[in-house]
Amino acid sequence: MGLADLDILIVEDEPFQREMLRDHLIREGHRVREAESGDRAVELLKGGSFDLLLLDYRMAGMNGVEVLKEARRLCPDVEAILITAYGAIETAVEAMKAGAADYLTKPIDLEELSLIIERIGRHRTLVRENELLRQELGARGVSSDAIRFKSPGMAELIQLAGRVAASQATVLIQGETGTGKELMARLVHQLSPRAGRPLVVVNCAAIPESLLESELFGHERGAFTGAVQRRTGRFEQADGGTLFLDEIGELTPAVQVKLLRFLQEREFQRVGGERTLKSDVRIVCATHRDLEARVREGLFREDLFYRIHVVTLKIPPLRERREDIPILVDHFIERYARENRRSVRGPSREARDLLMRYDYPGNVRELENIIERAVVIARDEVISSHDLPFQECADLEDSGEASRTGTLHAALEELERRMIQEAMEHARLNQSQAARQLGLSERMLRYKLKKYGFK
Ligand SMILES: Nc1ncnc2c1ncn2[C@@H]1O[C@H](COP(=O)(O)OP(=O)(O)OP(=O)(O)O)[C@@H](O)[C@H]1O
Ligand SMILES: [Mg+2]
Repeated sequence: MGLADLDILIVEDEPFQREMLRDHLIREGHRVREAESGDRAVELLKGGSFDLLLLDYRMAGMNGVEVLKEARRLCPDVEAILITAYGAIETAVEAMKAGAADYLTKPIDLEELSLIIERIGRHRTLVRENELLRQELGARGVSSDAIRFKSPGMAELIQLAGRVAASQATVLIQGETGTGKELMARLVHQLSPRAGRPLVVVNCAAIPESLLESELFGHERGAFTGAVQRRTGRFEQADGGTLFLDEIGELTPAVQVKLLRFLQEREFQRVGGERTLKSDVRIVCATHRDLEARVREGLFREDLFYRIHVVTLKIPPLRERREDIPILVDHFIERYARENRRSVRGPSREARDLLMRYDYPGNVRELENIIERAVVIARDEVISSHDLPFQECADLEDSGEASRTGTLHAALEELERRMIQEAMEHARLNQSQAARQLGLSERMLRYKLKKYGFK
């Protein structure tokens, strides 16, 4: 992606300083305009488009931060670097609060300036590329609302998903709970030539072992007690489309064999049936588990593992792509404000800081639940830190030494169990309401209630 050359406006009232900056930036390949005052800068901003403002703080007339505020109004996505006197910490803080990307102190270190500009250039290229990617997704029928991202990691992953979607390859989506695996599976389907055909979703963990085989492959009449009628399975229903096998790590050995055979021969039989059936299905699988470890433990067939991880899309946990948090926060606020007819606009500064710092063991789903709850309980238009559950979380952490010494998985399960318990209490044991609140299907909630031994 080459180093971006930028349109830069230098706003500085000292001619000598201005020339020095101009010569340096032109040498570095940027396009430069100059303004000797804030008023002149505003005039130029009205007329042209700039990527970056280099603003001296102390000028006669408007100071740098005032110019920045005005500039933000005129062109919301222009970046700015403030130049402040040495040691003027308050000025630097004020500049950052007003939205400056960075600040420099006098005397200016030109090398440092170049590094900052390079970083800003990379950031702008990325923003532009993401914008293009979103437009492309839109052109291919994916609503720009469906999947929100800003981090380079996610942008890359979505591009990869777009490329593999066109092929027939089996796709394995890996990621911790709540990272957006199902969303990614839907994206692969929507971007594929099969988009007009069904996407059939099966959660392998939510279906009792004894029923899973017939759920997937169907059964003949009388195949087992209770099989009073012939039934088509999910493989047949997904013919021409995509079959999404969620929680593939939970497949029983018998079903693993059948799936392997299907992937090799594209053939299967209904339970209790003789006839060999064919189905034109593209398989997308997901798991929150480390499948390789399952293979080593002998719980998952190695040959099947190699068949399904032809292409792996590994979704990073949210704490490793914090750049995505702000847009996800805004996205969920908008959704839940609309849904609940609340006029909540955004988080307070303090709340936003807390949201940025938290680790999200439950990833995007946990963030979504936190925001939904906050939107509902917020007293005014701004979500404050009191509307966030972090205080309670901190208390829990302090009291629960076990959750820190145990495995990550155990800690997550504990969190999940608590959230389910709270939701059930809150919903006065109304399962569908609790399921909605948790962002789970009712079936999934029933499965989890059973798993955690709730009566
Ligand atoms: N990038 C994103 N943009 C918008 N919403 C997202 C994004 N990622 C996840 N979500 C939302 O977060 C929630 C969880 O996503 P999803 O169900 O796809 O996760 P998952 O990885 O399948 O979770 P689990 O492991 O628990 O099955 C959903 O409501 C989904 O819409
Ligand atoms: Mg899922």
